[in-house]
Amino acid sequence: MSGDLSMFLCHILNCVITTSLNTILVTGGAGFIGSNFVMEWLQTTDSAAVNLDLLTYAGNRGNLASVDGKSKHIFVQGDVCDAELVGSLLQKHRPCAIVHFAAESHVDRSIIAPDAFLRTNIQGTFVLLDQAKKYWSGLNEADRARFRFLHVSTDEVYGTLGQDDPAFCETTPYAPNSPYAASKAASDHMVRAYQHTFGLPTLTTNCSNNYGPFQFPEKLIPLMILNALEGKPLPVYGDGKNVRDWLYVADHCSAIRAVLSHGAIGETYNIGGNSERANIDVVTTICDLVDELRPDPSAKPRRRLITYVEDRPGHDRRYAIDATKISRELDWKPAEKFESGLRKTVRWYLENSAWIESVRTGAYRDWIAQNYAERVEI
Ligand code: NAD
Ligand code: DAU
Repeated sequence: MSGDLSMFLCHILNCVITTSLNTILVTGGAGFIGSNFVMEWLQTTDSAAVNLDLLTYAGNRGNLASVDGKSKHIFVQGDVCDAELVGSLLQKHRPCAIVHFAAESHVDRSIIAPDAFLRTNIQGTFVLLDQAKKYWSGLNEADRARFRFLHVSTDEVYGTLGQDDPAFCETTPYAPNSPYAASKAASDHMVRAYQHTFGLPTLTTNCSNNYGPFQFPEKLIPLMILNALEGKPLPVYGDGKNVRDWLYVADHCSAIRAVLSHGAIGETYNIGGNSERANIDVVTTICDLVDELRPDPSAKPRRRLITYVEDRPGHDRRYAIDATKISRELDWKPAEKFESGLRKTVRWYLENSAWIESVRTGAYRDWIAQNYAERVEI
């Protein structure tokens, strides 16, 4: 074979290989939402997932036990702030999309120690964007047209609502109130800038409060389930009337898939569950579900454990999402009702005591002591 012909055949082969690849790079895929997303992705598509996760206190390989050993799941323990690592993963695996979940995600921790939030949420997102831009610029035309960078963000960037205010929509001005929310807002702006300035094909989602299997028990719902089960006080912040709009995690994952496949480049999509509930109502419902599914030997109602404690500083009063855009443009709506989703979630925590013990490490116990020991009862 002549040199020219073999070079031509190599080029054709390269084009076929690059345009037929459909791997995605997921960051933070050992966390709560990321692991639910990766498991569903591997179960429902033929595409491989490279899962880059630092395994901080919130990341857990046990979340991914059901996909362990699958050749389509390539787990890499590493930091999104590590530009060399991110660049080399992109070159090696040549993904057609990045789905960016990795973050520090707990508001209370951002109040006590904001540094890690600035690093991972802002610097980490910048590193990913910058490496994605380099990689994307070097792709052939077909792959460049297909590539997407999906940034998973939060409704907290919009700040707080009064009782009668309309729900957050995509044009609501940003007004983040906690260090967590401010770091996510900064990352959203950086995503916007990379799209506007360099043409990187980005998508951003801003979602409300998630709940479901594998949520780390520092967040309201799993913390209350476990404390109720163990007869411990249920620490409700302030007057318990703060409102959140709850979404079952599988519905968040289906929304992300819809945005990834049909979302318009440069757009943001709000995702919510149409399930606004006051915290105290969530907690009493959990008490009743635990009473029903695991009756207390003394037959005392778990509601007796509710303890009002000192409020979270700067506590946002109400979040609510107007999800009209994603519903109208991408035909997405949540499948789960809050009551059925919460019942499934309580059952999951009752049935997965080994998982619970595996995540309640010494560092977890230290966190609980740090956040709650000094919080006076009110
Ligand atoms: P999580 O805290 O459960 O998981 C975060 C994951 O990111 C962990 O696996 C952790 O190990 C990993 N990680 C942290 N720092 C990293 C780093 N430097 N490099 C690589 N990996 C790192 O979070 P979650 O609740 O699953 O949230 C996922 C994403 O969704 C976040 O971006 C969050 O802001 C967003 N979000 C969460 C909610 C919610 O209710 N939980 C709602 C809306 C948006
Ligand atoms: O709105 C989306 C956000 O939802 C995500 O971006 C965050 O990553 C996620 O952590 C969540 O933030 P919240 O602060 O709303 O979630 P959290 O579970 O910490 O608290 C929910 C509500 O319950 C909030 O009003 C504070 C209250 N709360 C929380 C804890 C942990 C209590 O009353 N007692 C508690 O012990």
